[in-house]
Amino acid sequence: MKIKGFLPAYFLVAVSIGAAALNAQSSAPHLEKRGSATQLVVDGAPFLMLSGELHNSSSSSLAYMQPIWPKLEAMGLNTVVTPLSWELIEPEEGHYDYSLVDGLLKQARASHQKIVFLWLASWKNGMSSYAPEWVKRDTRRFPRVMAHGDVVEVLSPQGTATEQADGRAFAALMQHIKQVDSSDHTVLMMQLENEVGVLGDTRDRSEAANQAFAGPVPAELTAYLKAHHDTLYPELRELWDANGDKTAGTWTEIFGDTARADEIFMAWLYARYIQQVGASGKAEYDIPMYVNTWLNDYDAMPGGYPSGCPEPWVVDIWRAAGTAIDIYAPDLYSTDFVTWCKRYHRDGNPLYMPEAQGKEIGAANVYYALGEEAGLGFSPFGIESEAGDNDPLGESYHTLAQIAPMILAGQQSSEIHGFVLDQDRRSVDFTMGDYAIHVSRDDSFDGPAKSGFGLIIATGKDEFLGAGRGFRVTFHALQGPQAGISYVEEGTFDNGKWIAGRRLNGDEDEQGVAWRFNPHAQSIEKVVLYRYE
Ligand code: DGJ
Repeated sequence: MKIKGFLPAYFLVAVSIGAAALNAQSSAPHLEKRGSATQLVVDGAPFLMLSGELHNSSSSSLAYMQPIWPKLEAMGLNTVVTPLSWELIEPEEGHYDYSLVDGLLKQARASHQKIVFLWLASWKNGMSSYAPEWVKRDTRRFPRVMAHGDVVEVLSPQGTATEQADGRAFAALMQHIKQVDSSDHTVLMMQLENEVGVLGDTRDRSEAANQAFAGPVPAELTAYLKAHHDTLYPELRELWDANGDKTAGTWTEIFGDTARADEIFMAWLYARYIQQVGASGKAEYDIPMYVNTWLNDYDAMPGGYPSGCPEPWVVDIWRAAGTAIDIYAPDLYSTDFVTWCKRYHRDGNPLYMPEAQGKEIGAANVYYALGEEAGLGFSPFGIESEAGDNDPLGESYHTLAQIAPMILAGQQSSEIHGFVLDQDRRSVDFTMGDYAIHVSRDDSFDGPAKSGFGLIIATGKDEFLGAGRGFRVTFHALQGPQAGISYVEEGTFDNGKWIAGRRLNGDEDEQGVAWRFNPHAQSIEKVVLYRYE
């Protein structure tokens, strides 16, 4: 990997931001490929979402929310993932009420927060409880799914009138957001629905669904599979290959007579519907849109988790159904954080997780997501329960906010690495510029730290910036004379300006042997290397 001359990458980003800023002020938040990363660009500059998702019902009341915003701001958030429901936006068909939207925007702006709105409409966790009453009651116009022989409280993704009604409401909402927010850009992205899919059965068993399932797989889906064969998610490709890579036939002929065919069929139905709803909204106001996923492993049975939800092995099915959805997002509560990040950060899909674990675990994982997987942001669920003094996630957010421009520049140039270390993952190795770098848990006087996490950014040929807690770093020159530590400095950034604190030497850098990060509190440190023979 090349270090660009001796100019720090964040300097280059700042220059490009400056040049673009004037005409970009007016453009809506959007995703943009910058260098090797796809980033969220807001007012001409890449933006890192240090966010959290509210509990489901909090944002239905402005009075309830009023005291929460300042707490989130104090915790270091810059973005709040905020539910909005179809039932409150369109309580009567064709009559829209935007007072909540306007109130939430006003409150968010007063606390310097951006918003990602969740459009909780036809589905939320597989069910349809957020649809307006006039939709719930009219089961003829808005048909339901049948699971195991029973009609369930789940709107059918084959309901054309439902899709149109949801799309109309969403389009009206986006038109309103454009009207009230196209200069402030408080709203960064929209989540479409929430964790959709059929629960309790592998697929919809209604008559309409049975008929469609017995019919041919749409040619646009098989054409997509053919055109993208080599980049398909491995499990999907293997399944299609195992059944002969057919481009025409029924769902079971093409995908085999197992629950996988049911899941793919449901993924297609939900994807068609939601891509359409998203497209209706984008026609009014084009900002990034994503869907979120209730995760499960491939060996679990669809229906035990929502069948059709964009699990990694059906993301390609969703992509074949349209282009309105920009991001496929995991709700990442799993302890196997790294594996799931990699399952979603692939084939052009940027990593964003609207839901994750917070507290100590989130405080560490955010470093990995932003530093190693070019994450657009991070967002633990139920964030208002976490807001308080000395929250470990808050410590991470306050630290990361100081170095956000360098992180974004590092994502673009790939001159950044993030890591989480514990008993199972004791060290990581990578190369940056001219150095092989070994990162392990810090070994303090009272034994190795239980855990460590952080990120390292190359800021010059022989200079690195690091942040985090409980790790130690050693450098080996890949070529030429040996590498030694010239000096280590801790400090803070005040509006981008480095304010140096202690010069770390002696025990604090093992007499020049290792770059160390305190196991008890997060810090930001710079190291400068030199060569000797
Ligand atoms: C996942 C859902 O997407 C959220 O809305 C919320 O219900 C959480 N589960 C609760 O843990």
